[in-house]
Amino acid sequence: MLVGMMGVGKTTVGRIASNRLGHPLIDSDVVIEERTGRTVREIFETDGEPAFRALETEMLLEALASPEPSVIVAAGGVVLDPANRRALSAADARVVWLVAEPMTLAERVERGGHRPLLDGDPAATLQRMWDERQPLYREVADAVVSVDNRSPQEVVEAVLR
Ligand code: S3P
Repeated sequence: MLVGMMGVGKTTVGRIASNRLGHPLIDSDVVIEERTGRTVREIFETDGEPAFRALETEMLLEALASPEPSVIVAAGGVVLDPANRRALSAADARVVWLVAEPMTLAERVERGGHRPLLDGDPAATLQRMWDERQPLYREVADAVVSVDNRSPQEVVEAVLR
């Protein structure tokens, strides 16, 4: 299970790890878009953030309950809900927190797409989110892996270790 901030590379690392391990990839945002037939942005715009967060929780609990060994990419905001954090801690899953400097994240994230929360000032928003979420990711993490100055392959090696 990969957790971490927007733009840290959870999806890229998850894809490579899933290929390496031969386990299916469960990527929260992708599953939400497939199931609802709508984009993350559309869900935020029409139903609002709380509705999106509820879907996020549903996907998390379903992924954690999956009997098949899997690589799970959690949505970035999954740690905000205390019930989700309890589920992550209680589950039989190894939770790896991918970490980057907030400035690295700001350089990486693309505008538009599935991150409507970053539409305004991405650098300031990411810094605020980092301050808020850092202790929450730490609470659920079994391991912490830095992505700064590492290629995706190197990050995967560290995650698998
Ligand atoms: C969010 C992260 C996004 C997406 C949504 C909200 C967040 O996914 O779920 O825009 O609050 O951290 P990524 O973690 O793939 O960027």
